[in-house]
Amino acid sequence: MIKVITYGTFDLFHEGHYNLLKRAKDLGDYLIVGVTSENYDKGRGKLNVHQSLVERIENIKQSGFADEIIVEEYMGQKIEDIKKYEADIFAIGSDWLGKFDYLNEYCEVVYLERTKGVSSTKLRNENRGILNIGCVGAGRIAKRMIRESKFVSGVNIDIVYGRNKAKIRKFAEENELEKYTTDFDEFLSKVDAVYIATPHTTHYDFAKRALESKKHVLCEKPITLKEDQTRELYEIADKNNVVLYEAIKTAYAPGFQRLVMITKSGVIGKVIDVDATFTKLENNKNLREYDLTQGGGSISELISYPLLAIFKLLGMDYEKITFYSRFDGETGIDLYTKALIQYEDAIASANVGLGVKKEGELIISGTHGYIYVPAPWWKTEYFEIRFENQNLNEKYFVKFDDDGLRYELVDFYHSIAEGALNISLSAEESAAISKVIEKFFDKADTIEI
Ligand code: CTP
Repeated sequence: MIKVITYGTFDLFHEGHYNLLKRAKDLGDYLIVGVTSENYDKGRGKLNVHQSLVERIENIKQSGFADEIIVEEYMGQKIEDIKKYEADIFAIGSDWLGKFDYLNEYCEVVYLERTKGVSSTKLRNENRGILNIGCVGAGRIAKRMIRESKFVSGVNIDIVYGRNKAKIRKFAEENELEKYTTDFDEFLSKVDAVYIATPHTTHYDFAKRALESKKHVLCEKPITLKEDQTRELYEIADKNNVVLYEAIKTAYAPGFQRLVMITKSGVIGKVIDVDATFTKLENNKNLREYDLTQGGGSISELISYPLLAIFKLLGMDYEKITFYSRFDGETGIDLYTKALIQYEDAIASANVGLGVKKEGELIISGTHGYIYVPAPWWKTEYFEIRFENQNLNEKYFVKFDDDGLRYELVDFYHSIAEGALNISLSAEESAAISKVIEKFFDKADTIEI
């Protein structure tokens, strides 16, 4: 009996998949099909898969060619499978020509002719259409978002809005955008969604105008500096049936989501303390970060990250928050702040700094053990669960590609294209973060050090 094995994502099962499976089956007597798991796809940067693993397996079953279906979960699994299932032939489409020659050591490798003109990527784009996102602002983060958007199929950033014509023209040229405009209404008329990457104090007005024009909004953090304003924006989004997302990249990162779920599963017992730090030593006082009139300072710039971890793990129902801050005499911004957040039965600290450097780690302490996430914890690529008995310790690694802005973009896109709920960061969580920032600027609970 000749056994053939083949692999793929098989998203939105199409004619190309059908032909491939038929050709693979014709090579032998028994066909094993390996279907990639969701985690594996995410890990290798394939972020936009439309169907669940169960749906994709079901489609392959329906084709009638597979004698056995297995799940591909990690790199290097193919060699193990070939040995385990004693496969004689490894078959794959010709788009992979040469890429799997290394498997010749274990079995015969056959590249089958690929069906022209059809692919899952093409179908995904046709099905859901392209989301045209316009960029508000032409600063550092906007540049990074445009670069990251190239990794997300289905989204297209092609226009930038800004007040300074020369600046946005240069930005458009440098980032290969087709259009730029200083007219916000004209800008809105040309897009389905906007990405707001301007100074904090301008977010509210831009977001409001965009949402009222029924445009989806992805807004840089902090969404606003006032709780009421943030709540109002979410209400406007709801009323206009559009999506509003706050761009705190960690919230959408696969590793962080895994970390939260693992902690919630109770593996370290009851969480008693969350200690999260994010500092970014920045000495150029000409930057927006040092400008109080533009909402500068460590808290507004950085506390969204630690608060995200604290609120996800301990909730938003805290009793008291106290800020211990060191202010800059010249600019008035907080150079360093330690915010202590007291809960009924737990405590948390969020440490942020623009003028002071500290280890950027996250430590979650529980009654059975603790979780240690080394710097930069906000990328959450690696973490350890540690116990008194070190033999029980566990290590986790979850890939985080480049800047990681692609994860929020994928989530945003799914939410618009498929009506998927935003479960990564809720309106309540965004409002709670704005509330803390507002409280800090009120100065009532701030102790100067
Ligand atoms: N395949 C094919 N002809 C096509 C598309 C895919 O022969 N037109 C083959 C691939 O070469 C592979 C298998 O089908 O052997 C599964 O491929 P997969 O990556 O799941 O499909 P694509 O349509 O190429 O998906 P994507 O666009 O997401 O890369």
